[in-house]
Amino acid sequence: MRSVTLRCCTEGVEEREVTAAAGLLNSAPGKERLLGGFWNKAMSFIPLKRRRAGPVSEEPLDSLQSLFPDVCLFLVERRMGSARRKFLTGLAQKKGFCVTPQFSDQVTHVVSEQNSCSEVLLWIERQSGQKVQPGGAEMTPHILDITWFTESMSLGKPVKVEPRHCLGVSDSSVSRDKATQEIPAYGCQRRTPLHHHNKEITDALEILALSASFQGSEARFLGFTRASSVLKSLPFRLQSVEEVKDLPWCGGHSQTVIQEILEDGVCREVETVKNSEHFQSMKALTSIFGVGIRTADKWYRDGVRSLSDLNNLGGKLTAEQKAGLLHYTDLQQSVTREEAGTVEQLIKGALQSFVPDVRVTMTGGFRRGKQEGHDVDFLITHPDEEALNGLLRKAVAWLDGKGSVLYYHVRARSQNFSGSNTMDGHETCYSIIALPNVCPEKPSPDAEKIEPDLDKNSLRNWKAVRVDLVVCPYSEYFYALLGWTGSKHFERELRRFSLHVKKMSLNSHGLFDIQKKCHHPATSEEEIFAHLGLPYVPPSERNA
Ligand code: UTP
Ligand code: MN
Repeated sequence: MRSVTLRCCTEGVEEREVTAAAGLLNSAPGKERLLGGFWNKAMSFIPLKRRRAGPVSEEPLDSLQSLFPDVCLFLVERRMGSARRKFLTGLAQKKGFCVTPQFSDQVTHVVSEQNSCSEVLLWIERQSGQKVQPGGAEMTPHILDITWFTESMSLGKPVKVEPRHCLGVSDSSVSRDKATQEIPAYGCQRRTPLHHHNKEITDALEILALSASFQGSEARFLGFTRASSVLKSLPFRLQSVEEVKDLPWCGGHSQTVIQEILEDGVCREVETVKNSEHFQSMKALTSIFGVGIRTADKWYRDGVRSLSDLNNLGGKLTAEQKAGLLHYTDLQQSVTREEAGTVEQLIKGALQSFVPDVRVTMTGGFRRGKQEGHDVDFLITHPDEEALNGLLRKAVAWLDGKGSVLYYHVRARSQNFSGSNTMDGHETCYSIIALPNVCPEKPSPDAEKIEPDLDKNSLRNWKAVRVDLVVCPYSEYFYALLGWTGSKHFERELRRFSLHVKKMSLNSHGLFDIQKKCHHPATSEEEIFAHLGLPYVPPSERNA
């Protein structure tokens, strides 16, 4: 019976389906709220017969049969969710690990995701009635973070438990020196949470990165962005500039900034940049929807300094820029998670009126756990490609007919996105939606000058919100999901790692091995990380 279970897991069909489903659930806390009834829809893609069959044994693999008789895993379902736990159980069993569904004295390695040590101990006590004494790195049971699991799966054998794998090991017992020496160079090799310990420093470095991009210096932009990203992944607050000496990308110029902030609380160069006319004008101009750095720079050289100066440009503005200016005040306000949920209902309603079982996933910053964003991003797909033909235009026209669309522009799907092309070419709609029942804040004086219909708008009961809709073929769904979840720096690093380290070309359509000249299909995000030989990074830790 047990060998049958194992064989099922390696046959691939069932595993692939569960993997696909599990990939949808990796968005960490709040995912149910984020995805709404999406899970049910995702499950509806899985044929009933196979769903019932289930790929994973709920019985523990007998430790005598396991390849590693000294290791018995217990996966903590709390925050991980049952589908993902089932997927990870299958993965471990396939690699020959013993995984037990119940906690017992046999358990040597307790693995959990996004819980503290005390949360895990309490959860186990409530589930099994057993009080557990954590053994740290030296003794069992080890109470471990998922990093130990992913590293072990990558290697195909249990890796040695180190203090950094153990939950509840405080900063002081882990050598800070050692921690800094172990930070990898690529952002996609690191876990970067939304909230971290060095915000004053990363904010300062990001001002310098932005300023460099305004001056057209890609190299300086990347230098400061990479330094900032490394510090975001540090598990402790920096106390001295000495601590960054072994960190990747934290060289000369960044070190000066770090030192000044640590010693004086501010960095003079950053303050000078923030107060400069060029920086302030470029920041204001590039914050208009439809205005990139090149346009803003040209305007600046033509004498434009503020939004009101744009009135003189009149007819030279594109339709997108005019819409951006008209709704400037609203678009400057962040979109809250609650508002994003309302947008999701609106978008799903429009799409489902044409294709009831269309799959709609919120991506971008909200999928990474952000509580607010500058827009709301959605990925749309369906197993039947025919169902997707013309769907985006029909759905947007449907919303437009209801008065919910303030601006939209559909970019058609580009052809030839196979091979080593690094660009993305999915059909995409860039839009501004009128979100109902929200009271807008009082418009700024600048906006009064540029919003001719302001009087009419001041009584309105809607707020303008930027929404991006992306349609992808079902076969490319997990690549598009990975590509549109961000962060932008995480994506940049993933593609750079793929190309330079793995000689593979990654985009939102797929992964192409340049040397072997072949594509790697994927049915989950985990599988893409595995193709790249990277430990899996959940969306909530991609805030690089
Ligand atoms: P956003 O610019 O919306 O960023 O792009 P965000 O992370 O959601 O943060 P907010 O909206 O400022 O709060 C989301 C992701 O989509 C990809 C990028 O990788 C980015 O990380 N993207 C965006 C593209 O692939 N192409 C685009 O044209 C835009
Ligand atoms: Mn976004």
